[in-house]
Amino acid sequence: MINQDRVFINDVGPRDGLQNQKVLVSVTDRFSLIQKLADAKLSGIEVGAFVSPKAVPAMAGTDQLFRQLGTESRRQDLTYSALIPNQKGFQLATVAGARTVSLVVAASDTMNQKNIGMSTQSALAVCKQIIAASADTNVKVHVYLATAWACPFEGQMSESSVLSVASELFSLGANNLVIADTIGAAHPKQVASLMKQLSSIKSAEHFACHFHDTRAMGLANVYAAVECGIRHFDASIAGLGGCPFAPGASGNVATEDVVFMCEQMGLDSGVDLKRLVVAAEFAMKIAPSAQGGNALGYIKQFIKED
Ligand code: COA
Ligand code: ZN
Repeated sequence: MINQDRVFINDVGPRDGLQNQKVLVSVTDRFSLIQKLADAKLSGIEVGAFVSPKAVPAMAGTDQLFRQLGTESRRQDLTYSALIPNQKGFQLATVAGARTVSLVVAASDTMNQKNIGMSTQSALAVCKQIIAASADTNVKVHVYLATAWACPFEGQMSESSVLSVASELFSLGANNLVIADTIGAAHPKQVASLMKQLSSIKSAEHFACHFHDTRAMGLANVYAAVECGIRHFDASIAGLGGCPFAPGASGNVATEDVVFMCEQMGLDSGVDLKRLVVAAEFAMKIAPSAQGGNALGYIKQFIKED
């Protein structure tokens, strides 16, 4: 049963946020950012990606990050995950000690070709193999359904095609789907419409949402999904982000904005706001393109008065 008063925020800043910066951020700074996010008591942190370092140089060294994080001292209520595009990524992640992987399949065929070099059908076949392989290991698989509202190459996605890929993913054994607005093109009515339909295939607790703030609708989209019963969200500290394979994608909705909105609405995020501000300021220092969430200034004032 879903706890309606609790919300779970997975910070994807160290991966989605840092993968597209003009300046390469060192493994040491990436590790410090992850530690600051862990100190802020987020529910999840996407540590990095096991992808080709030629395709995404910024994610090289993700194996080092997992080794540094170790397995012994990890908090039970904090999930460290890594993005993987294929079998090789799954193997590398497992060897490095990742216990949760995020597999990406786009609803759009062109996006799958550009992002992971596969058709949607091949991506689904790979997904099936990885989910089956994960049953023999201790590794959990979260599946991302990318370009769920719009694709930078094919334009608007039809709801029926997205629903059909989602149903197929569940039938292949996926337990949770992260519905992603990869380029930040959806508006709240579209979010509500798709999330309602998806929740009729599988209950809301099996879904998370991932929004980018390209058109300043990230937070409104989170709200629309909250109203549909969704309680798991991706967000990125200080609004870091952008996908190198999705032209036009800007940063993710900022973690501090999502946390603050949810808390103001009475949804407990478990996050320590003071420490979240420390993490946001550090993110802005190591990645100068990060603007900080719109609520950051107010949050600083709010915690001073608290
Ligand atoms: N991790 C590291 N290296 C990988 C890899 C992985 N998961 N998968 C493949 N490779 C390596 C191959 O070994 C090969 O190396 P080589 O050139 O030294 O022989 C090279 O990458 C190319 O492999 P190939 O199977 O021909 O794939 P490709 O060139 O079509 O690239 C991906 C496919 C998936 C590896 C590449 O597109 C990729 O990493 N994409 C990243 C997607 C991403 O991070 N998107 C971000 C937002 S979702
Ligand atoms: Zn994204």
